[in-house]
Formats: sequence, structure tokens, C-alpha cells
Amino acid sequence: MSTEKTNQSWGGRFSEPVDTFVARFTASVEFDKRLYRHDIMGSIAHASMLAQVGVLSDAERDSIVDGLKQIQGEIEAGQFDWRVDLEDVHMNIEAKLTERIGVTGKKLHTGRSRNDQVATDIRLWLRDEIDLILAEITRLQQGLLEQAEREAETIMPGFTHLQTAQPVTFGHHLLAWFEMLSRDHERLVDCRKRTNRMPLGSAALAGTTYPIDRSITCQLLGFEAVSGNSLDGVSDRDFAIEFCAAASLAMMHLSRFSEELVLWTSAQFQFIDLPDRFCTGSSIMPQKKNPDVPELVRGKSGRVFGALTGLLTLMKGQPLAYNKDNQEDKEPLFDAADTLRDSLRAFADMIPALKPRHAIMREAALRGFSTATDLADYLVRKGLPFRDCHEIVGHAVKYGVDNGKDLAEMSLEELRQFSDQIEQDVFAVLTLEGSVNARDHIGGTAPNQVRAAVKRGRELLASR
Ligand code: ARG
Repeated sequence: MSTEKTNQSWGGRFSEPVDTFVARFTASVEFDKRLYRHDIMGSIAHASMLAQVGVLSDAERDSIVDGLKQIQGEIEAGQFDWRVDLEDVHMNIEAKLTERIGVTGKKLHTGRSRNDQVATDIRLWLRDEIDLILAEITRLQQGLLEQAEREAETIMPGFTHLQTAQPVTFGHHLLAWFEMLSRDHERLVDCRKRTNRMPLGSAALAGTTYPIDRSITCQLLGFEAVSGNSLDGVSDRDFAIEFCAAASLAMMHLSRFSEELVLWTSAQFQFIDLPDRFCTGSSIMPQKKNPDVPELVRGKSGRVFGALTGLLTLMKGQPLAYNKDNQEDKEPLFDAADTLRDSLRAFADMIPALKPRHAIMREAALRGFSTATDLADYLVRKGLPFRDCHEIVGHAVKYGVDNGKDLAEMSLEELRQFSDQIEQDVFAVLTLEGSVNARDHIGGTAPNQVRAAVKRGRELLASR
């Protein structure tokens, strides 16, 4: 990247060149060059509109559009020499255009400012990123539905306080993650609507004296609507903050999911096996197989929460309209989008490959008195008030702990010490299958309900 000084785009009122360090300090091209495609898209739409309203001739427009397309090709071929002295992606491209097509290139910026230009570019860029992220969410959700269908009858312990609570089906557990991701998807679709509004035409802050027609650029760029106030249009970044908030929630979900995978793959749980391709070893301990992918996703959630906090802080003290502070919006936003997309991609690849260990899950569910609530419900059905049943079963569990027996392992005589309402039919209730099958309503863990939820999930994905 070259760094010669003096900036022709605004050098007119200056009597000495910008300090070399200041030029580097204030430049953003190192990171905003990533916006080149959307910058060119916005410029082509702007030039087309200027020609349509008679500010540019058709020949001038054609020359600008051709020049911009050539520049795009050069950038994509890695042949573009980005110059730090030209500050940012916008001025680099404009300077190159003038170098290439001559004085007509200098007309591109008519009726426009970098302030509405950059606000437009980020929105166009984020709109595309949201679409890619939505596709990854859907791919991950498809994987969850497949696994849930396969594992509709697999029994595992459900936890509260990380203590065995009640038996659940593994399919049901996986579908909890499906639900969270559905809300993440909804949030991003919603955020996309507000991202998809066009600030172009706001110019520096007050609008422009040229007879622009914003509906033309709006349509060319596929925006849903034009922004209604030029001061707001150039300065606001709430769409980016909203994206980071939605991305933070999605990362928080993935981080919790990661935590379960880390626990479940441990020697202590052994609930699932993660294929080797998602793990790494230790350079000193030969036996190790570490769940690096979920651990990293859990760790990376912090970057996205940081982006959210960073952008909120960036905006909170800014008076209207554009301030240079806003140049600091890009790195956190880019990083949040990249991190979320990569994390989703890793999960979407990994989830269909999870191998549950059925026997171990089942055995864990048999331990820990997971059907204690079922015994209490059984006694309620025999006519006792729930609170009394709770107490009776509490005594039975205490007896079980002292004697090393789970409820289903006790004889009828042993159980009847706690209530004479207990009869032979209690054993059907104390089995794991009896327990999960009994929770047979929408949102319940019964295998039937898991299959019904998978069906609903498929319909949801098909409707997107
Ligand atoms: N690089 C700048 C940014 O990212 C572009 C807008 C600069 N506008 C200005 N008036 N200095 O915000």
C-alpha cells in the first residue's frame, strides 16, 4: 500500500500536507476496502440516477459505469494498489476512476458526500451478510431436525441445576436449540428490514441542491424505502447496533450449546461422541481429544458481545450529524458478522455428525431418581394432595439414597412403607419410557411430540 501524502479530494483549503502519522491514524482503507463491491454498486446507481435527471450526460454515465466495473475487476484480481494517503475505500476508488477515465470521473461525486456514501455502503454490505447468516442458521436447524427425528425415542436425563431432574428424550433436548435458533432467525429478519433503508441522497447532512430522484437509486439498489431525514440518514448506526444485539443473542445460544457439548463429550458424562475432525489433541497428553470447536465458539461469543458494547459506546455521545467517530463502526461490525457466520457454519457441519451414546445416556437417566416426580403424580392420581405426595416421595428417595437403590429397583413392599396407596401398577410409571411417554402434549418430551415438532420445524424451514 503506498502512502504518499496530499489528498486531492479535499486538499484545496490546506496549506501544508497532512502529517504522515495522522494520515495513517485517520485512514480506514485497511479495513473498509472490504466494502468495495457495495461502494461500486452504490456509485453505479448514483451515476445512473444523475444521468436520468439530467445532471450527467448518458455518455458521462457510461464512461463512469465502465470505469467502475473495470476497477472492480482489478480489485478482484488483486491488482488494485490501495493507497493509505487516499484515506478510505471511497476516495481510493474515485481517484482511480479519474485516473482511468479523466475529468468525467470527478463528476461522480456530484450531489453526494462520503457521509451518505459510507452509510449506504454499510447497509448494503450488512444486508448481504444477514442473508448469508440466515442461510447458515437454516442449515444448522435442518441438522437439528434430522438428529431430533433419529433420536426421538432416545432417553437421557434432563437437568436443572445440572442435577438429574426428569428423563427427557434426546430429540426433545435438541429441539430446544432449534427453538432458540428460530428466534435468532426472526430477529435477524426483522433487523434486515431496518437495515434495508437508503440514506443515499442525504449528502453531507442537509440534502443536496441537485434535482436528485432518490426513488431511482432506491429501486436500483433494492432498498425497501428511503430514509426520511438527511441528518439521521448520514449519522445513525442503530441498524448495526441492532445487528450486533441479535448476533450477541445468537452467539449466547451457541455458547450455551457449546457448553453442553463440552460437558457431554467429557469422560465424566460420555453422552456423545464428537467425530475426530472437530477435535484436536494435546501436545503433551497423548490420551486427549479436546472439543476445540465448541470451546472456541463459547470463547468467541465474547468478541460479539464486545462489538455490541463498543458500538453502543461509539454512538452514545455523538451530536448530529456525521462525526468521524463513525469510522470506528466497521471493524466491530465486520468482526461480529464474521464470528457469527463462522460459528454457525462450524455448528451446522458438526451437529449432524454427533453420535449419542444411547446406553450411557439411558443409564444416567436411571440414576438420580429421575422418575420421582412421576411417582408423586401417580399418588395424586390415587387421590392424595400433591404436597403430601411430594413429601412421601421425598422419604422414598431418602431411603433409596441410604440403601443405594433407585425407585424402580425397590420392591413393592419397600415402596409401600411410604404409602399404602402404592400398588403393582406403580412400576409402569417408574420406567423411563413411561415417564417420557406420559408428557404427551405440545412442547412435551414424549417421542410422539418430538416427531410432531420435527414436522412443524420442517414446515417452518420450508416457509422461509
Ligand atoms: N471513512 C469514513 C467513514 O468510515 C467515510 C466518511 C468520511 N466522511 C468525512 N466527512 N470525513 O466514516
